[in-house]
Amino acid sequence: MIRIMVLDDLESILDLEHQLFSSPWTIENYHFELMQNPFGHYVVLDEEGIKGYLGLWIHDDAMQITTLGVDLQVQNRGYGKKLLEYALLKATQEGVSVITLEVRVSNTKATHLYESAGFRQITIRRDYYSHPDEDAVLMLKQMR
Ligand SMILES: CC(C)(COP(=O)(O)OP(=O)(O)OC[C@H]1O[C@@H](n2cnc3c(N)ncnc32)[C@H](O)[C@@H]1OP(=O)(O)O)[C@@H](O)C(=O)NCCC(=O)NCCS
Repeated sequence: MIRIMVLDDLESILDLEHQLFSSPWTIENYHFELMQNPFGHYVVLDEEGIKGYLGLWIHDDAMQITTLGVDLQVQNRGYGKKLLEYALLKATQEGVSVITLEVRVSNTKATHLYESAGFRQITIRRDYYSHPDEDAVLMLKQMR
């Protein structure tokens, strides 16, 4: 099931952050997102433990996907797609007209996942990432 992320989940989320990302978010980042960011919406995919997670910002009629991760041990079983489908459903429910996200240019797997959900590559953001330095692709899905 997909449910709202709570503070008690953060230990597991930070483990996954370190497993999945070369510049992992910190506990302070997550505290802020869960407790203080009025635009933040964070969920976990919980199937006998946290298998994946998704972060969104929703502001007016725009949504940004801030993070998406699935435990390496259970990747390629459709969990990433399920979390992305949740984001699309949430966007519809909230009347969002456009969804954007950034992804490393080398991340062909995530790019493929987003494209199969209807996202298009809009532009390149030079040197967007560090550790290692890399460009980002800005992707966008028009909802209406
Ligand atoms: C990206 C990520 C969330 C995908 O999660 P997942 O649960 O493995 O994804 P799914 O099983 O739902 O499916 C992913 C799709 O990519 C495809 N895929 C798998 N490996 C691939 C590869 N090397 N290149 C291209 N496509 C690939 C799968 O076939 C599937 O496509 P399909 O539905 O058309 O068959 C996961 O790999 C991850 O956590 N990566 C590290 C963190 C990350 O990069 N997050 C995205 C940041 S923008």
